[in-house]
Amino acid sequence: MSRPILPILVALTLPVPDLGRADPIILRFSHVVAEDTPKGLGALRFEELAEAYTDGAVDVQVFPNSTLYDDRHELEALQLGSVEMLAPSLAKFGPLGINQFELFDLPFLFADIDAVHKLTGGPVGLALMDSLEPRGITGLAFWDNGFKIMSATRPLRLPADFEGLPMRIQSSRVIAAQMEALGAVPRVMTLAETREALETGWVEGTENTPSNMLSQNIYEVQPYATLSSHGYLGYAVIVNSAYWEALPGNVRQDLVRALDEATDYANGIAAEKNAEALALIAEAGKTEFHELTASEREAWVAALRPVYADLREWLGESLIDVALSTLNLPPEGPSP
Ligand code: LMR
Repeated sequence: MSRPILPILVALTLPVPDLGRADPIILRFSHVVAEDTPKGLGALRFEELAEAYTDGAVDVQVFPNSTLYDDRHELEALQLGSVEMLAPSLAKFGPLGINQFELFDLPFLFADIDAVHKLTGGPVGLALMDSLEPRGITGLAFWDNGFKIMSATRPLRLPADFEGLPMRIQSSRVIAAQMEALGAVPRVMTLAETREALETGWVEGTENTPSNMLSQNIYEVQPYATLSSHGYLGYAVIVNSAYWEALPGNVRQDLVRALDEATDYANGIAAEKNAEALALIAEAGKTEFHELTASEREAWVAALRPVYADLREWLGESLIDVALSTLNLPPEGPSP
């Protein structure tokens, strides 16, 4: 009787399944900045810790630099479950119908990073994260980038220097109002589009942190930059709620632990990464820096003060009142 050779050969060449181990749970984390930035490095640290703490039960896949979704599409993708985790800037929640995050865009609101943490770590931060739940999104952490500088094709010393200047902004009505109060013409576009728009002249200036200006090569086409620290850039780390709630409880706990540590790490390196980026931009020699003098700063603060009154309703009266009183600022906003 002939023997069935083929089934034996097939059995010998097939990989042996590991019956004791389930496939890992995939967690896609998409963001729009380069890896060597506070957010990029924070995401990689989360990946490393999450995989270690869950002993490989979760496979975190980080997609930097808008390679999976750009900032125009990422929130919708999160709601649809096409990606599980994001860290959009606080300036990008308006299109979701939640304007209140734009509070953080108010010009000259924060004296320093500790002031930012008074809001993110208190009732304002909690209320903002809670407001995401009805949209199917769970807010897990706030991450810092830092304070923004202004850049352009001309020097920007006084508000009059902004007259008619087309400026790229994020999709925030508060930032649009800020640019208009300075006399500029705000144009909303994604971070991925910004470098080219500056190069072609569709916009002539922008604002961002040094780490984004460097890693997106924005500085190469911006001969002037003003160290104004006029506004804050930070992020909310968010997940799709249905995905999050369906995770086994112990896995969720491990991910929270990993995220807490990644948050401390990202916030701990943010200032240093921006200082390093500023030094590298200066070294490249393509951008001339100007530090605002005290009287120039006063002129900016005075020109921007009306933004507080104009955007009260947009941001919500009670939220803005709580925020300003937490920061010991008058109801009309900071004075020159
Ligand atoms: C921008 O669009 O300029 C920033 O929000 C990018 C980012 O995520 O830091």
